Amino acid sequence: MTAVGLPGAGLGVGIIGGGFMARMHARSALLAGARLAGLSSSSPESAARAAQALGFERGYGSVEELLADRTIDVVHVCTPNALHAEHAAAVIASGRDVVCEKPLATTVADATALTEAAAAANVTATVPFVYRFHPLVREARERVASGETGRVLTVAASYLQDWLLTSEDDNWRVDAELGGASRAFADIGSHLVDLVEFVTGDRITRIAGRTRTFFTERAQHAQVTNEDAAALVVETAGGAVGTLLVSQVAPGRKNRLHLEIAGSASSLAFDQEHPETLWIGRRAGSVLLPRDADQNSESANRYSVAPAGHPQGYPEAFAAFVADSYLAARGDQIDGLPRFADGLRAAIVTDAVLRAAQADGWVDV
Ligand SMILES: NC(=O)c1ccc[n+]([C@@H]2O[C@H](COP(=O)([O-])OP(=O)(O)OC[C@H]3O[C@@H](n4cnc5c(N)ncnc54)[C@H](O)[C@@H]3O)[C@@H](O)[C@H]2O)c1
Repeated sequence: MTAVGLPGAGLGVGIIGGGFMARMHARSALLAGARLAGLSSSSPESAARAAQALGFERGYGSVEELLADRTIDVVHVCTPNALHAEHAAAVIASGRDVVCEKPLATTVADATALTEAAAAANVTATVPFVYRFHPLVREARERVASGETGRVLTVAASYLQDWLLTSEDDNWRVDAELGGASRAFADIGSHLVDLVEFVTGDRITRIAGRTRTFFTERAQHAQVTNEDAAALVVETAGGAVGTLLVSQVAPGRKNRLHLEIAGSASSLAFDQEHPETLWIGRRAGSVLLPRDADQNSESANRYSVAPAGHPQGYPEAFAAFVADSYLAARGDQIDGLPRFADGLRAAIVTDAVLRAAQADGWVDV
């Protein structure tokens, strides 16, 4: 099948890591019209299994073998956090465009090195902060940028999950060697802080707060040090104040990213679990704005793939991110594409969160 005209037409895609996210990346690459060329994972056997399950032409025994395949043009890094630096650096050194999962790296130094290496090699390097690709997130951003919302006064943002609620729940993310010194914030707070800054167009400048590791022992990890939750107060360059609450131990919350911005003219609230409406709060006449081409801005409509009333959500947002990454790799100018600099920004904020947790009072970001 030829995919002429689609963003990924003619692109050979490689993926490093064959787990949960590889499936979402592979699906999005296919929708963009790319070719699933090769996949490598933690062993030749697991690579072969994942390659077959996801429809790749080949499973490779190692990253080196995958990068030796010259039919691969772009590589997606979908491995555990602490391996991103090594894997993304190898992709960049091979001259390929790269999509690297968040958190871009587990230290600011590594995230900086990757960002600089991608710029020096002149490759397209993006990070899946995919919540940016919900049409109504673009709508909210547009309303702040146009001045319709007024001056941003306060931000209340939270990202809550419950999949690590008990000490029986375990994953490589709780191991600081693989997941990083920060867990909840690096894992999901990175999405949250990216969205706050993306929608407001503002920057967090100071942070105060605390992190908590409620479960220091889990099923297969005896000494867990990275946090289950983080509660923060922030100040922005534009003079707003806000709160960020991030938790992976909040019963009943599966993937509840919620962002509420109060401007001097109106409020905006977006809930990732209900992405088809945006609450517009007014002293009189609050409304729930639906995703609807007739009522939304051009920048929102660009990401609307189904008519109003036909729900779309996370998979469509992910596909839009991958399609835009491929368009950028082709040389198109893409507004709002999260690049390595944005991954670095999240790493810098994550570092500030860890410093704030040890400090009495504010730390600068
Ligand atoms: N953008 C998003 O919305 C989003 C959502 C979930 C996860 N993620 C990120 O995706 C990344 C992967 O998470 P996941 O949930 O898919 O994890 P996972 O455990 O399901 O998959 C990780 C894969 O990496 C493989 N792997 C481990 N060591 C390797 C090595 N040395 N070389 C090659 N492969 C190796 C494992 O075998 C596994 O197949 C994480 O960084 C995570 O933060 C992003």
